[in-house]
This record gives sequence, structure tokens and C-alpha cells, in this order.
Amino acid sequence: MSVEDFRPGEGIKTPGADEIKIHDSRATEPDEDFDSTLRPQTLADFVNQVQVTEQLAVFIEAAKKRGEALDHVLLAGPPGLGKTSLAHIIASEMGVPMIQTAGPALERKADIAAFLTALEPGSVFFVDEIHRLGRAVEETLYPAMEDRNLPVVLGQGVGARTVTLDLPEFTLIGATTRTGLLTTPLRDRFGVCHRLEHYSPQDLDAIVIRSAGILGVEIEAGGAAEIAARSRGTPRVANRLLRRVRDFAEVKGSGHVTDRIAVEALEMLEVDGAGLDRHDRRMLELMAEKFNGGPVGLSTLAVAMGEEADTIEDVTEPFLLQQGLIKRTPRGRVLCERGYEHLGIEMPEGHATLF
Ligand SMILES: Nc1ncnc2c1ncn2[C@@H]1O[C@H](COP(=O)(O)OP(=O)(O)OP(=O)(O)O)[C@@H](O)[C@H]1O
Ligand SMILES: [Mg+2]
Repeated sequence: MSVEDFRPGEGIKTPGADEIKIHDSRATEPDEDFDSTLRPQTLADFVNQVQVTEQLAVFIEAAKKRGEALDHVLLAGPPGLGKTSLAHIIASEMGVPMIQTAGPALERKADIAAFLTALEPGSVFFVDEIHRLGRAVEETLYPAMEDRNLPVVLGQGVGARTVTLDLPEFTLIGATTRTGLLTTPLRDRFGVCHRLEHYSPQDLDAIVIRSAGILGVEIEAGGAAEIAARSRGTPRVANRLLRRVRDFAEVKGSGHVTDRIAVEALEMLEVDGAGLDRHDRRMLELMAEKFNGGPVGLSTLAVAMGEEADTIEDVTEPFLLQQGLIKRTPRGRVLCERGYEHLGIEMPEGHATLF
């Protein structure tokens, strides 16, 4: 990097939504606005994941008492489980500003230097999709995270020299859907690492009721429970289904979400009793019918589905794996007995030896 391409605080690029989002074929609506309305604002609002929120509450309080920035935090887990929401909550509980970007938007060292030098002391610097950082950018982060140093090369050729800029105190919050893709040196520099897990139907129920309250939707307990049970363990899906069920209730009924309206709406949306949608079932069907239950490689499956392999790995697969419908083996994905049961197809003889 030379002085020409680096001016502190300048050139901060905010990623476009396309740049940072993994393609999700289920996301057919402008969920961003909806997400932000329903986003929990405080740790107390953040439903469940108690082990995460309790620990964070302690670390936040301790950091505040010492008058220091919170240690760097890594949040991992499948899409829609609350990583971005938690990053916002941490910044607001710490009472500090937050600057947000995403791995793919940080192409050059100068991009990240621009962000780091513009941080106000104590701020949260949120990097979404941190597993998609380039190598050089990642290496710039190491001294910044550890010693709050930013080495910058000034000038070019023989006259070039390195100066080290002191950075203000800051908290890096990294979010990733794939901890496996993170390098060890980067992972090790986070003082706090949390993995968000899929939510239980009870927790999703609480989220649906909270969101219905915010949206002013009248909902019966059974209706909320029905949506919760079919939300793939994911708050974002629960909120999306709630919105669709509300539409249905307004058109087919009085707007009031009863148990019956919820079931009818969910059936119309082709979300089944296990929370699987058409897309999930298609993947299971393809595995059963076209690949004889597997093992089938991810890329082959992706081509057959007409999807990106990343989407399958990040969005479709985690819930199916968690539910024991499919399994990952060294030779590829295998449809499990529960998967066959779900489809109502008989499992071929000898198939069980694969899982
Ligand atoms: N624990 C929670 N309690 C209440 N609502 C939640 C919770 N977690 C997530 N949500 C809701 O789900 C929506 C999606 O969450 P969020 O955007 O934080 O997920 P994410 O993990 O960052 O997803 P992605 O990996 O796709 O960026 C939020 O707008 C919020 O309404
Ligand atoms: Mg997010």
C-alpha cells in the first residue's frame, strides 16, 4: 500500500446487499427491512441462546467497569440465527458506535486500513462473512487485533518505509456461517467465540409472539406454536412465515391468526409439519431417486438442484443435518432412515451401512 491509495478514513466502502449475501432462494422478499423492524434491541430481548447472552452480559459489564473496549467477538452459525442482531446488541449495550462491513467488500489492505483508522475509540467494527476476507487483508488484521497497530508502507521503491499507526481501542465482531473456513491465526485472535445453534420450537414460539406484538398481529397460542414448529429452527424463517400467515389471515379471514388459519396458510406455502419447504424436500427426493440415497458429492448435488454449492452448504443443509434426515460422510451426503421416512419412500436394502 502506498500513500496514494491510503487516506485515513477515506474510501470506506459499504457493501451492496448482493455483494455480501449468499444467495438464498427462499429470500424472495425484501427481508432486510423486515429484519430490522423485528431485530431484538437488547440482550434481554434476544430470545434464548442463554449460554451466549449470559456470558456476553458478564463480559460486557466487566469491560464497561474497566472502561475498556470489549474483547474481540466471533459469532458463528447458520444464516438467520441472530449474528447480526447480536452484533448490534453488543454495540448498543456497550454504548458505542458500530461500523459495519463484510469480508467480500474488503479487497485491499487500504480498504480495511480506511475503516480501522476511522474508528472512534471503543467502537465496534462488525465484519460480516469474515471467512471471505482476502489473505493480505486478514494479515493486516492480526496486529490490529492484537496490539492495535497498523503498519503502513509510505512511498515506493527504495524510498519506501513502514510506519506503524496506533489505532484506537476497538472491538472486532466477526460473523461467519462457516467457522471451518476461518484460518487458525484469525480464530485465535478472538477472545470470545460463540456458536449460535438452531432454536427449539418453544424459543421460536416466543419469537413469533414477540414479532406478532411488534407487527400488531392478533395471534392465538396454537397459531404461533404451529408457525414455530415449522420454522426450521430459524428466527428469520419464523418471522417470514408469520408475515405470510398474516397475509393469508387478512385475505381469507378477519386478520386474526387462529390455529386453523395458520395450518391452512402453512400448507399453502408448502411448509410441511417438520418445517421442511419444497426446496428441502426436493433435495431429499433428488438424493433418494436420482442418487439412490447417496453418497453424493456436494457439487454433484448442487448441479442437480440448480443451486450454488455454498447455498446448499450454508442454507439448506444445516437444518437437514441437525434433524438427522441426511448425513455427511467422507464420500458425500447420504440420505438417512429418517429422510426416507419423511418422504414415505422405502429405504433400499443395505443402505443403512452407509451411515
Ligand atoms: N434470539 C432472537 N430473538 C428474537 N429475534 C431474533 C433472534 N435471533 C434472530 N432474530 C430475528 O431473526 C432475524 C434475522 O437475524 P440476523 O439478521 O441477526 O441473523 P444472522 O445470523 O445475522 O443471519 P445471516 O447469516 O443471514 O446474516 C432478525 O431480524 C431478528 O428479527
Ligand atoms: Mg447477518
